[in-house]
Amino acid sequence: MKNTQLHKENDWFVSWFDSPYYHVLYKNRDDSEAQQFMTRLTDYINLESGDTILDVACGKGRHATFLASLGFQVTGTDLSNNSIEFASQFENENLQFLTHDMRKPMDLQYDAVFNLFTSFGYFDDEKDDLLALQSFRNNLKNNGIGIIDFLNIPYVEKQLIEHEVKSIDSIEFSIHRSMTKTHIIKNIAFSVDEVQHNYFEKVRSLQLLDFEALLEKSNLQIVELFGDYELNPYHANNSERLIMMVV
Ligand SMILES: C[S@@+](CC[C@H](N)C(=O)[O-])C[C@H]1O[C@@H](n2cnc3c(N)ncnc32)[C@H](O)[C@@H]1O
Repeated sequence: MKNTQLHKENDWFVSWFDSPYYHVLYKNRDDSEAQQFMTRLTDYINLESGDTILDVACGKGRHATFLASLGFQVTGTDLSNNSIEFASQFENENLQFLTHDMRKPMDLQYDAVFNLFTSFGYFDDEKDDLLALQSFRNNLKNNGIGIIDFLNIPYVEKQLIEHEVKSIDSIEFSIHRSMTKTHIIKNIAFSVDEVQHNYFEKVRSLQLLDFEALLEKSNLQIVELFGDYELNPYHANNSERLIMMVV
C-alpha cells in the first residue's frame, strides 16, 4: 500500500497544482491573513512550543513555515513535487516537507493535523475522500486536534462571479466559474507563447451535513465550528469559511 501510487498523472489536482501557472494565478494570496489565522488557531487550541503539527496538502508551505517559526515541530506534506521542492528551501530542525498523497497515513501521530484553504473534496470517488479523512484520523494523537478549513458553499453560491479575467505576470487568465448540484467548477484558460492552456478546479460542494456524515464514517467528530479566519462563529448563510475543529 505504502509505495503504490493512488493518483493518475491526468487527475486535475495533479496537473494543475503542480504547474507553474497555478502559482502565478494565486501569487497574491494573503499571507498575513494566513499567519494571523495560524497564530489565533494555535493559541485557541492551546498548542505549546514543541508540539507537533502535520499540515496536510501544505502547498508551498506558507502555513507550515510560519508555524515552525512559532516554535512548533512541523511537517508539511503535499502531492505536488514542485511545491514540496520549493518549500524544502525553508526546512530546518523544526520543519520538514515531504511529497505525500493525503489518502495515505503518515507513520507518526501529531498533536494537531491541519488541512487548510480548501485542500479537500478533489476526488471523483467518495471512497478517496474517506481515505483522506481516515488517514487524517490515524495521524492524530489520542488527544490531538484536527482542523479542516473548507469553503462555505452557501456563501460561495451567493458570491459567485461567473466570468473574470485576471492579468498576472503578463498572462491573461480567463476564468469561468459554475456550480452543479455536486461540484464547484472553475475553468481556467490562458495562452503563453501562443500555446493555449486549459485547466480546471473541481471541488465537491460539501456542506456541514455532508462533512458530518463523512467524518462519522472516519471515526471523527466536529467539536467546534468557525466561520472565518478570525475564528468568529460559523453561520451557514453568511460565513466566508466552514472551519471544523475535529477530534
Ligand atoms: C488550494 S491548495 C492549498 C495549499 C496550501 N494549503 C495553502 O493554503 O497554500 C491545495 C493543495 O492540495 C494539494 N493536493 C491535491 N491533491 C492532493 C493529494 N491527493 N494529496 C496531497 N495533497 C494534495 C495540491 O497539490 C495543493 O498544493
